[in-house]
Amino acid sequence: MFLVFPDPQAIANHLSALFIAKIQAKPNSVFGLATGSTMEPIYARFAQQAREQSLDLSQVTTFNLDEYVGLAADHPQSYNYYMHQHLFDLVGFDEQRLFLPDGKCADIQEQCERYSQHIRLAGGLDIQLLGVGSNGHIGFNEPNTSFDSRTHVVGLSERTRIDNGRFFENKDEVPTQAITMGILDIMEAKEVILVATGEHKAQVMADYWYSPVSESMPASILKQHPRPLIIVDEAAASLLPAQACQPAMATAC
Ligand code: GLP
Repeated sequence: MFLVFPDPQAIANHLSALFIAKIQAKPNSVFGLATGSTMEPIYARFAQQAREQSLDLSQVTTFNLDEYVGLAADHPQSYNYYMHQHLFDLVGFDEQRLFLPDGKCADIQEQCERYSQHIRLAGGLDIQLLGVGSNGHIGFNEPNTSFDSRTHVVGLSERTRIDNGRFFENKDEVPTQAITMGILDIMEAKEVILVATGEHKAQVMADYWYSPVSESMPASILKQHPRPLIIVDEAAASLLPAQACQPAMATAC
């Protein structure tokens, strides 16, 4: 079932309220965070409301889904940079509790093992926020990634490099590899929330709806999660059958 909101701002209002309620109920919540343009209005709204409400974020821990191999944290296209720009620098998190894979780490293999372990040692993810690639990838788990995967290095597909090329000056600059949490890490989160907005996500949402659970469509694994929330705006829902859609109630803001 897809929860359908009129537009990205309505989704941002809803999720910001949900995250704030979660942190108030459990101040040491562990969040799995995503990047991409879909998340920008969500983080902007959350940061604004957290500031207005003087929300205490000092005990919140976050783990990001992924990072490009070869980009340093201060590279403007790195996901580390993105997170600081869109969220971490806007509100009072404890820097020591914010974790992202390091794209420049000398021993990437060891880092991958440690990253998945670290999530477990932190008590596991309470909520994992996800975007989706046009080929159905979640994090950077490209089609045909094993559903048993932990944090690992991936070779990015041509489709993903073309899609993400819009953020780079020159498409050749898009890294060819990334580090991503694995599908198992994502599936172990207590709740998963996948968000897709815009007409350009309508096809992948239809693919998700009609696909069996299959490694060729990574997001399809979420159908086996006990608490999946798939949130779309009307544009991303435009190719879905009516019986798949549940109109969302507006969140007061
Ligand atoms: C990248 C990220 C994904 C994200 C996807 C969609 O590939 N690795 O985690 O879901 O982009 O991005 P956007 O929200 O910009 O469409």
